[in-house]
Amino acid sequence: MNSSSKKSVLWPIWVRLTHWALAAACVLNLAILEEGEEPHQWVGYAAAALVGIRAIAGQRSKKRALKLSLMLPRPRLLLAELKKLIAKKALDRPEGHSPLAAPVMLGIWGAILVLALTGFMQLSDTFYGEEWVYEIHELTSQALWALIAAHMLGLAHDTRSSGKPTWKGMFTGQKG
Ligand code: HEM
Ligand code: HEM
Repeated sequence: MNSSSKKSVLWPIWVRLTHWALAAACVLNLAILEEGEEPHQWVGYAAAALVGIRAIAGQRSKKRALKLSLMLPRPRLLLAELKKLIAKKALDRPEGHSPLAAPVMLGIWGAILVLALTGFMQLSDTFYGEEWVYEIHELTSQALWALIAAHMLGLAHDTRSSGKPTWKGMFTGQKG
Protein backbone atom coordinates (compact mmCIF):
# COMPACT_ATOMS: atom_id res chain seq x y z
CA MET A 1 0.00 0.00 0.00
CA ASN A 2 2.78 2.38 0.96
CA SER A 3 5.14 2.75 -1.96
CA SER A 4 7.82 4.73 -0.09
CA SER A 5 10.84 2.70 0.96
CA LYS A 6 10.58 3.92 4.58
CA LYS A 7 7.67 2.16 6.28
CA SER A 8 5.11 4.59 7.70
CA VAL A 9 4.20 4.53 11.39
CA LEU A 10 0.61 3.49 11.94
CA TRP A 11 0.59 3.62 15.76
CA PRO A 12 2.20 6.90 16.92
CA ILE A 13 4.23 6.94 20.12
CA TRP A 14 1.31 8.20 22.26
CA VAL A 15 -0.83 5.23 21.15
CA ARG A 16 1.98 2.83 22.02
CA LEU A 17 2.54 4.47 25.42
CA THR A 18 -1.16 4.49 26.34
CA HIS A 19 -1.36 0.84 25.16
CA TRP A 20 1.44 -0.37 27.41
CA ALA A 21 0.32 1.73 30.37
CA LEU A 22 -3.20 0.29 30.00
CA ALA A 23 -1.86 -3.26 29.66
CA ALA A 24 0.24 -2.77 32.83
CA ALA A 25 -2.79 -1.37 34.71
CA CYS A 26 -4.89 -4.41 33.71
CA VAL A 27 -2.22 -6.89 34.83
CA LEU A 28 -1.74 -5.01 38.13
CA ASN A 29 -5.45 -4.91 38.98
CA LEU A 30 -6.33 -8.37 37.68
CA ALA A 31 -3.42 -10.30 39.10
CA ILE A 32 -1.04 -8.42 41.38
CA LEU A 33 -2.52 -5.67 43.59
CA GLU A 34 -4.68 -6.35 46.63
CA GLU A 35 -8.31 -6.22 45.44
CA GLY A 36 -10.18 -3.10 46.44
CA GLU A 37 -7.26 -1.45 48.30
CA GLU A 38 -6.09 2.09 47.56
CA PRO A 39 -3.38 1.20 44.97
CA HIS A 40 -6.03 -0.89 43.14
CA GLN A 41 -8.40 2.08 43.16
CA TRP A 42 -5.82 4.55 41.80
CA VAL A 43 -4.57 2.18 39.11
CA GLY A 44 -8.22 1.61 38.11
CA TYR A 45 -8.91 5.34 37.79
CA ALA A 46 -5.64 5.85 35.90
CA ALA A 47 -6.69 3.11 33.45
CA ALA A 48 -10.05 4.85 32.89
CA ALA A 49 -8.24 8.17 32.32
CA LEU A 50 -6.00 6.49 29.72
CA VAL A 51 -9.09 5.26 27.87
CA GLY A 52 -10.45 8.83 27.87
CA ILE A 53 -7.14 10.25 26.59
CA ARG A 54 -6.98 7.60 23.83
CA ALA A 55 -10.58 8.31 22.77
CA ILE A 56 -10.24 12.11 22.64
CA ALA A 57 -6.77 12.16 21.04
CA GLY A 58 -7.90 9.52 18.52
CA GLN A 59 -10.94 11.56 17.49
CA ARG A 60 -8.79 14.70 17.11
CA SER A 61 -6.08 12.88 15.15
CA LYS A 62 -5.77 13.41 11.40
CA LYS A 63 -5.24 9.65 10.99
CA ARG A 64 -8.58 7.98 10.19
CA ALA A 65 -7.31 4.66 11.55
CA LEU A 66 -7.11 6.12 15.08
CA LYS A 67 -10.69 7.40 15.30
CA LEU A 68 -12.85 5.36 17.67
CA SER A 69 -15.98 6.40 15.77
CA LEU A 70 -14.68 4.42 12.77
CA MET A 71 -14.14 1.35 14.96
CA LEU A 72 -17.83 0.88 15.78
CA PRO A 73 -18.95 -2.62 14.74
CA ARG A 74 -20.55 -2.99 11.32
CA PRO A 75 -22.59 -6.23 11.66
CA ARG A 76 -22.52 -7.21 7.96
CA LEU A 77 -18.77 -6.75 7.70
CA LEU A 78 -18.26 -8.57 11.01
CA LEU A 79 -20.34 -11.53 9.84
CA ALA A 80 -18.47 -11.67 6.50
CA GLU A 81 -15.13 -11.72 8.36
CA LEU A 82 -16.37 -14.42 10.77
CA LYS A 83 -17.38 -16.55 7.79
CA LYS A 84 -13.91 -16.10 6.27
CA LEU A 85 -12.32 -17.00 9.62
CA ILE A 86 -14.33 -20.24 9.80
CA ALA A 87 -13.58 -21.05 6.13
CA LYS A 88 -9.86 -20.34 6.83
CA LYS A 89 -9.81 -17.65 4.11
CA ALA A 90 -7.58 -14.56 4.18
CA LEU A 91 -9.03 -11.86 6.46
CA ASP A 92 -9.35 -8.15 5.78
CA ARG A 93 -6.23 -6.25 7.00
CA PRO A 94 -7.11 -2.56 6.68
CA GLU A 95 -4.94 0.24 8.03
CA GLY A 96 -5.89 0.36 11.73
CA HIS A 97 -7.81 -2.32 13.62
CA SER A 98 -9.43 -5.05 11.54
CA PRO A 99 -13.23 -5.56 11.68
CA LEU A 100 -12.72 -8.52 14.05
CA ALA A 101 -10.13 -6.79 16.26
CA ALA A 102 -12.04 -3.50 16.69
CA PRO A 103 -14.89 -4.96 18.84
CA VAL A 104 -12.29 -6.61 21.11
CA MET A 105 -10.47 -3.29 21.59
CA LEU A 106 -13.76 -1.45 22.23
CA GLY A 107 -14.71 -4.23 24.66
CA ILE A 108 -11.45 -3.79 26.61
CA TRP A 109 -11.94 -0.04 26.83
CA GLY A 110 -15.62 -0.44 27.77
CA ALA A 111 -14.82 -3.01 30.47
CA ILE A 112 -12.26 -0.65 32.04
CA LEU A 113 -14.81 2.18 32.18
CA VAL A 114 -17.44 -0.13 33.76
CA LEU A 115 -14.85 -1.32 36.31
CA ALA A 116 -13.92 2.24 37.27
CA LEU A 117 -17.60 3.19 37.63
CA THR A 118 -18.62 0.11 39.64
CA GLY A 119 -15.41 0.37 41.71
CA PHE A 120 -16.32 3.95 42.59
CA MET A 121 -19.94 2.93 43.31
CA GLN A 122 -18.88 0.07 45.63
CA LEU A 123 -17.14 2.57 47.87
CA SER A 124 -19.74 5.37 47.65
CA ASP A 125 -22.21 6.12 50.46
CA THR A 126 -25.17 5.39 48.16
CA PHE A 127 -24.12 1.94 46.92
CA TYR A 128 -21.86 0.70 49.72
CA GLY A 129 -22.63 -2.96 50.48
CA GLU A 130 -24.91 -3.42 47.42
CA GLU A 131 -24.23 -6.97 46.23
CA TRP A 132 -25.21 -6.32 42.59
CA VAL A 133 -22.61 -3.56 42.18
CA TYR A 134 -19.91 -5.91 43.46
CA GLU A 135 -21.21 -8.67 41.15
CA ILE A 136 -21.00 -6.40 38.08
CA HIS A 137 -17.42 -5.45 39.05
CA GLU A 138 -16.46 -9.11 39.41
CA LEU A 139 -18.20 -10.25 36.18
CA THR A 140 -16.66 -7.37 34.22
CA SER A 141 -13.20 -8.27 35.51
CA GLN A 142 -13.79 -11.82 34.24
CA ALA A 143 -14.98 -10.45 30.88
CA LEU A 144 -11.76 -8.38 30.73
CA TRP A 145 -9.70 -11.58 31.13
CA ALA A 146 -11.64 -13.13 28.23
CA LEU A 147 -11.17 -10.04 26.03
CA ILE A 148 -7.41 -10.01 26.71
CA ALA A 149 -7.27 -13.71 25.77
CA ALA A 150 -9.21 -12.94 22.54
CA HIS A 151 -6.72 -10.10 21.84
CA MET A 152 -3.75 -12.50 22.23
CA LEU A 153 -5.42 -15.17 20.06
CA GLY A 154 -6.26 -12.56 17.41
CA LEU A 155 -2.66 -11.32 17.29
CA ALA A 156 -1.33 -14.88 17.05
CA HIS A 157 -3.82 -15.77 14.30
CA ASP A 158 -3.12 -12.64 12.24
CA THR A 159 0.65 -13.05 12.63
CA ARG A 160 0.42 -16.67 11.44
CA SER A 161 -2.12 -16.25 8.63
CA SER A 162 -0.69 -13.04 7.13
CA GLY A 163 2.96 -14.02 7.57
CA LYS A 164 3.55 -10.47 8.91
CA PRO A 165 4.72 -9.65 12.47
CA THR A 166 1.40 -8.11 13.59
CA TRP A 167 2.19 -8.83 17.25
CA LYS A 168 5.14 -6.41 17.13
CA GLY A 169 2.91 -3.45 16.20
CA MET A 170 2.84 -1.83 19.62
CA PHE A 171 6.66 -2.00 19.80
CA THR A 172 7.51 -0.80 16.29
CA GLY A 173 4.42 1.28 15.48
CA GLN A 174 3.98 -0.65 12.24
CA LYS A 175 1.30 -3.16 11.36
CA GLY A 176 3.60 -5.15 9.12
C1 HEM B 1 -8.80 -1.64 35.46
C2 HEM B 1 -9.75 -1.45 36.38
C3 HEM B 1 -10.08 -2.48 37.46
C4 HEM B 1 -9.93 -3.84 37.44
C5 HEM B 1 -9.33 -4.71 36.32
C6 HEM B 1 -10.44 -4.36 38.69
C7 HEM B 1 -10.46 -5.70 39.05
C8 HEM B 1 -10.96 -6.21 40.24
C9 HEM B 1 -11.02 -7.60 40.61
C10 HEM B 1 -10.50 -8.75 39.74
C11 HEM B 1 -11.61 -7.67 41.83
C12 HEM B 1 -11.93 -8.96 42.59
C13 HEM B 1 -13.34 -9.40 42.23
C14 HEM B 1 -13.60 -10.80 42.74
O1 HEM B 1 -13.98 -10.95 43.89
O2 HEM B 1 -13.39 -11.74 41.99
C15 HEM B 1 -11.90 -6.33 42.27
C16 HEM B 1 -12.48 -6.00 43.46
C17 HEM B 1 -12.67 -4.72 43.91
N1 HEM B 1 -12.37 -3.55 43.22
FE1 HEM B 1 -11.64 -3.42 41.36
N2 HEM B 1 -10.88 -3.29 39.46
C18 HEM B 1 -10.68 -2.13 38.75
C19 HEM B 1 -10.97 -0.84 39.16
C20 HEM B 1 -11.42 -0.49 40.43
C21 HEM B 1 -11.66 0.87 40.91
C22 HEM B 1 -11.41 2.15 40.10
C23 HEM B 1 -12.10 0.75 42.21
C24 HEM B 1 -12.49 1.81 43.21
C25 HEM B 1 -12.37 3.06 43.08
C26 HEM B 1 -12.17 -0.65 42.53
C27 HEM B 1 -12.59 -1.16 43.73
C28 HEM B 1 -12.73 -2.49 44.04
C29 HEM B 1 -13.31 -2.99 45.28
C30 HEM B 1 -13.82 -2.14 46.44
C31 HEM B 1 -13.28 -4.40 45.20
C32 HEM B 1 -13.81 -5.38 46.23
C33 HEM B 1 -12.73 -5.86 47.12
C34 HEM B 1 -13.26 -6.80 48.19
O3 HEM B 1 -13.71 -6.27 49.19
O4 HEM B 1 -13.31 -7.99 47.92
N3 HEM B 1 -11.74 -1.39 41.43
N4 HEM B 1 -11.50 -5.45 41.28
C1 HEM C 1 -3.20 -6.89 29.48
C2 HEM C 1 -2.66 -6.89 28.29
C3 HEM C 1 -3.14 -6.08 27.10
C4 HEM C 1 -4.20 -5.22 26.94
C5 HEM C 1 -5.25 -4.84 27.98
C6 HEM C 1 -4.15 -4.72 25.57
C7 HEM C 1 -5.06 -3.84 25.04
C8 HEM C 1 -5.02 -3.36 23.75
C9 HEM C 1 -5.86 -2.31 23.23
C10 HEM C 1 -6.95 -1.58 24.02
C11 HEM C 1 -5.52 -2.10 21.94
C12 HEM C 1 -6.03 -1.01 21.00
C13 HEM C 1 -4.93 0.05 21.00
C14 HEM C 1 -5.30 1.39 20.39
O1 HEM C 1 -5.92 1.45 19.33
O2 HEM C 1 -4.96 2.42 21.03
C15 HEM C 1 -4.46 -3.03 21.61
C16 HEM C 1 -3.85 -3.15 20.38
C17 HEM C 1 -2.73 -3.92 20.14
N1 HEM C 1 -2.03 -4.64 21.07
FE1 HEM C 1 -2.55 -4.97 22.99
N2 HEM C 1 -3.07 -5.28 24.94
C18 HEM C 1 -2.42 -6.11 25.83
C19 HEM C 1 -1.29 -6.84 25.59
C20 HEM C 1 -0.59 -6.85 24.41
C21 HEM C 1 0.62 -7.61 24.16
C22 HEM C 1 1.31 -8.51 25.19
C23 HEM C 1 0.98 -7.37 22.86
C24 HEM C 1 2.16 -7.86 22.05
C25 HEM C 1 2.81 -8.94 22.25
C26 HEM C 1 0.00 -6.46 22.30
C27 HEM C 1 0.03 -5.99 21.02
C28 HEM C 1 -0.94 -5.21 20.44
C29 HEM C 1 -0.96 -4.85 19.02
C30 HEM C 1 0.06 -5.25 17.97
C31 HEM C 1 -2.11 -4.06 18.82
C32 HEM C 1 -2.58 -3.49 17.48
C33 HEM C 1 -3.43 -4.61 16.89
C34 HEM C 1 -3.95 -4.30 15.50
O3 HEM C 1 -3.14 -4.22 14.57
O4 HEM C 1 -5.19 -4.20 15.35
N3 HEM C 1 -0.94 -6.17 23.27
N4 HEM C 1 -4.15 -3.76 22.74
